[in-house]
Amino acid sequence: MSAPTLYLDGVSVVFDGFRALNNLSLIVEPGELRAIIGPNGAGKTTMMDVITGKTRPTQGTVKFGERDLTRMDEAAIANLGIGRKFQKPTVFDALTVFENLELALKAPRDPFSCLRWVLNGEARRRIDETVQEIGLTERVQERAGLLSHGQRQWLEIGMLLMQDPDLLLVDEPVAGMTDAETEHTAALLRRIAGRRSVVVVEHDLEFVRALGRRVTVLHEGSVLSEGALDHVQNDPRVIEVYLGR
Ligand SMILES: Nc1ncnc2c1ncn2[C@@H]1O[C@H](COP(=O)(O)OP(=O)(O)OP(=O)(O)O)[C@@H](O)[C@H]1O
Ligand SMILES: [Mg+2]
Repeated sequence: MSAPTLYLDGVSVVFDGFRALNNLSLIVEPGELRAIIGPNGAGKTTMMDVITGKTRPTQGTVKFGERDLTRMDEAAIANLGIGRKFQKPTVFDALTVFENLELALKAPRDPFSCLRWVLNGEARRRIDETVQEIGLTERVQERAGLLSHGQRQWLEIGMLLMQDPDLLLVDEPVAGMTDAETEHTAALLRRIAGRRSVVVVEHDLEFVRALGRRVTVLHEGSVLSEGALDHVQNDPRVIEVYLGR
């Protein structure tokens, strides 16, 4: 039996006496795509902060495979192969889609990689593959500044993929997207998972339905309910604190 990709057990985060996470436990298996939902302030972003080392848990276990993340800093955790997408894209507008991906490939997971880096056939193949995966083949030579909001988000996901993470964390990817872009994003994340694990936080339940995978509902820093979307949507506790308002 291989270890789960992500293992959180009894994790609490206390800010000035306020419990943002409260005895949170969560397991994500290799290749799994997991959606996290829950009301504002439930602790969803804080959970991602704990996984990426931005916030230290006050208490509890956080493991990535066999590695104890509570003892590592943000850079070391990123180097282990955990990629995180923030809401605001950090693509370079003046560069083309291709150049942005090229740059992401050079970015250090290995601090010495750029010294011996050349755009060889293998690098080019990976960029081409990623461009296809994110659905931007037609726009590969276009400057990123000319892309739509949704396309920029996909480019950013592509840039994370260039680092070949084993776990991708994505916080509210479809905010501000059109319905068609939202649909495309769900399909993209479904494709990405399988070869790696993906944890996505999102309020948009149509998007979560399109993902079609297991859902975890957070509330006041702990897991309130977990299972298929239909299951959690019919859970009276979820309706009371989240969906019924
Ligand atoms: N650095 C911090 N210092 C103090 N309180 C914080 C800090 N970060 C988060 N919190 C508090 O912890 C709680 C959980 O916040 P968090 O951002 O994790 O919620 P969320 O589930 O991501 O909400 P949203 O859906 O609005 O994004 C909130 O009450 C927030 O104000
Ligand atoms: Mg949040």
